Amino acid sequence: MPTFGNGRRVAIVAGLRTPFAKAGTVLKSMSAIELGRACVAELIERTNLDVGQVQAIVFGTVIPSVLAPNIAREVALMPMLPKGVQAFTVSRACASANQAITDAADQIVLGHADVVIAGGAESLSNVPILHSRGLTDAFMTANRAKSVPQKLQAFTRVRPRDLRPIAPAIAEPSTGETMGQSAEKMAKINHIPRDEQDQFALRSHRLASAGTTDGRLTAEIAPLYVSPRYETVVTSDNGIREQTSYDQLAALKPVFDRMYGTVTAGNSSPLTDGGAAVLLMSESRARTLGYAPLAFVRSYAYAALDPGEQLLQAPVLAAPVALRRAGLSLRDMDLVEMHEAFAAQVLSNLAGFESKQWAERAGFPSPVGEVDRTRLNVMGGSIAIGHPFGATGARILTTLCQELGRRGGQFGLLTVCAAGGMGHAMVVERA
Ligand SMILES: CC(C)(COP(=O)(O)OP(=O)(O)OC[C@H]1O[C@@H](n2cnc3c(N)ncnc32)[C@H](O)[C@@H]1OP(=O)(O)O)[C@@H](O)C(=O)NCCC(=O)NCCS
Repeated sequence: MPTFGNGRRVAIVAGLRTPFAKAGTVLKSMSAIELGRACVAELIERTNLDVGQVQAIVFGTVIPSVLAPNIAREVALMPMLPKGVQAFTVSRACASANQAITDAADQIVLGHADVVIAGGAESLSNVPILHSRGLTDAFMTANRAKSVPQKLQAFTRVRPRDLRPIAPAIAEPSTGETMGQSAEKMAKINHIPRDEQDQFALRSHRLASAGTTDGRLTAEIAPLYVSPRYETVVTSDNGIREQTSYDQLAALKPVFDRMYGTVTAGNSSPLTDGGAAVLLMSESRARTLGYAPLAFVRSYAYAALDPGEQLLQAPVLAAPVALRRAGLSLRDMDLVEMHEAFAAQVLSNLAGFESKQWAERAGFPSPVGEVDRTRLNVMGGSIAIGHPFGATGARILTTLCQELGRRGGQFGLLTVCAAGGMGHAMVVERA
């Protein structure tokens, strides 16, 4: 049984997402708020949910709009919802939707809410572009100036270098290392060769492609009319390459260490736009409203390590804690969903699960164990499907719960690595 305090179980009633599209492609005209609203609206429609039941919306996003930083509230303010649905936004890098889900689950366990929508959205096509300090100072001075000559005077100190725009980097603020460089480092430390990374990427595309063709993945996607004209409808992910081959992947040049590297565009997750959400309820409210939950949250854990060490390895520290809190072991898991930031990271995490050293670091005498590959990311993962940072956690949870149901499984484990050296793990159970 769940180890949460007062026995209030959190039901995962349903989950849905937008199609995931590579940044700069079919969804580039849509903001993260629009992506979030679209999937929440369709989630409500498909579950035939009385909107008066929704008590809170919790959303994750990693690079928020400067003009509307609380994306959750903007989603909650869409016309179909009452204005009294309180909403807050969380940030835990690539595990932001997971943070949203666990915050929502905590609210339900505490008895503060019975029906919460949680998820996340990201538009990497629409990242805020910043000004330099020099140009910002000039704008601020001009803003305060009383006359036009004074306003113009404010710009006389601006130098050409001040005009260079600054885009958010996908890099660690504390070390300056990009995610890709971190993946390279992990490949070297954990001896993950290029061919294993490419084989794993190929597997991701093949399985995601199969899941799309047979409709399992498509069932988790809300077709999306693209704003502002609403003339184009997008129905599936556009990063999945049905035709890719090992030879094509092996021919790609490394991106983050051009001389000696192994991490390529093919074995990395792409920059992606998309949104995803899940509907969570207390077990009792789900039953009262007549919903059959997909699964229940059994336990979860977060962990962190020094970002300068192995940035994306913390799932190895979080997973054993989540399993212990669930009172279960890896052997009990019918399915494992692991976020694929990079093939090098997945393979490093899997090796870490088998390592006594990592087990001891996490405070356990023996390793988590070897993940049965036939139970791992059975419909591919973020390498093929894409990775809108703030949304991925809700996609993974939906896939895990849906597939557990189809297979008649009982327990599932999901893990997500995140910038800042953080990791998340959750155990779900059916019935
Ligand atoms: C790796 C990265 C830099 C690549 O960006 P990109 O160069 O825009 O990627 P593209 O999709 O254009 O791919 C580059 C090339 O590889 C090819 N390619 C990519 N994946 C392929 C595949 N599976 N099979 C065959 N070819 C592939 C593309 O066709 C393209 O070829 P072209 O140049 O001939 O058109 C970018 O995706 C990235 O930064 N990813 C990491 C994101 C990240 O850090 N996430 C955080 C994780 S926590």
